[in-house]
Amino acid sequence: MIFGVIGAGQMGSGIAQVAAQSGFQVILRDVEERFLERARSGMQASLGKLHEKGRLEETPEAVLERVRFTTRLEDFAQADLVVEAIVEHEPTKLELFRTLGSVVQPQGVLASNTSSIPITRLATASGRPERFIGMHFMNPVPLMALVEVIRGYSTSDETAAFITETARKMGKTPIECNDFPGFVSNRILMPMINEAVQCVMEGVATPEAIDGIMKLGMNHPMGPLTLADFIGLDTCLSIMEVLHHGLGDDKYRPSPLLRKMVQAGLLGRKSGRGFYSYA
Ligand code: CAA
Ligand code: NAD
Repeated sequence: MIFGVIGAGQMGSGIAQVAAQSGFQVILRDVEERFLERARSGMQASLGKLHEKGRLEETPEAVLERVRFTTRLEDFAQADLVVEAIVEHEPTKLELFRTLGSVVQPQGVLASNTSSIPITRLATASGRPERFIGMHFMNPVPLMALVEVIRGYSTSDETAAFITETARKMGKTPIECNDFPGFVSNRILMPMINEAVQCVMEGVATPEAIDGIMKLGMNHPMGPLTLADFIGLDTCLSIMEVLHHGLGDDKYRPSPLLRKMVQAGLLGRKSGRGFYSYA
């Protein structure tokens, strides 16, 4: 099977890596070579860790041989599945799916790793809504068990079964839900993160104290602000905007501090600074 991934950021590179670990032939695309190089070295490091710990029998090099890195969309013509993992910005995703709908062979399935954008709208743009679905991996993809599977209005049973089976072949546990803003994962997770940002803005406690309370008090593996930095504050803001507009309730209003930090270029780990600094 040819497994395409578009967007070689933290999610796209993780999805491509796990697909290659699972034996699929992978094509990974980004808009510039330097992003592909960054993805290759991240995948090499992650595979190296897994190999060292005995969780990967093959060498990292053997896995990476199954990944073709490209900037060309035409390379996806023969793909059986293409998972999109580009920025969380609806107009950019719509434009990509309009193009992909005409580039990828008609039997190919298109999927989005979007965190919150309605699958049905993306499916319509692709021109093949029966063969379109949400395939939402969690970060970091090599370590997290869940794939949230979101059917659009017209997604066929065959497409849902194919994605469920593919997720299982990747060692993941697929769980289905319906197409509502933020699905289940981010409708519940993101308001908690947003509230933690609001606590910083109101001076309720320091970021360290907020994270400490949530880690030690609730047994969360990461505090909400550490997690926000890990996800990317730009992505968190985009998800909150989708929840706010899509559900129409002010309880989902993005924290003004979150908005300000994104405007200031403080995106978390990926930019070197967010609530914490990353040297
Ligand atoms: N590949 C391979 N190994 C990795 C890795 C990766 N991508 N990331 C971390 N590791 C390794 C670390 O290097 C570390 O190895 P050593 O033990 O050799 O040092 C090991 O995994 C354990 O990591 P840590 O000691 O740093 O930390 P941990 O035990 O807390 O585990 C974690 C890391 C699994 C990420 C854990 O902190 C966790 O579960 N965090 C919460 C993640 C989460 O909530 N994800 C969902 C985000 S929301 C989302 O994804 C949806 C959305 O749309 C926004
Ligand atoms: P990221 O910023 O790390 O990476 C996005 C990548 O997409 C960048 O490398 C960018 O150059 C590339 N890109 C942008 N437009 C493109 C195009 N037209 N063609 C090809 N590449 C393009 O973002 P990310 O954190 O990997 O998130 C990607 C998607 O996954 C978003 O929809 C996000 O909501 C979703 N997601 C993120 C997380 C997370 O924790 N960060 C978890 C689950 C899902």
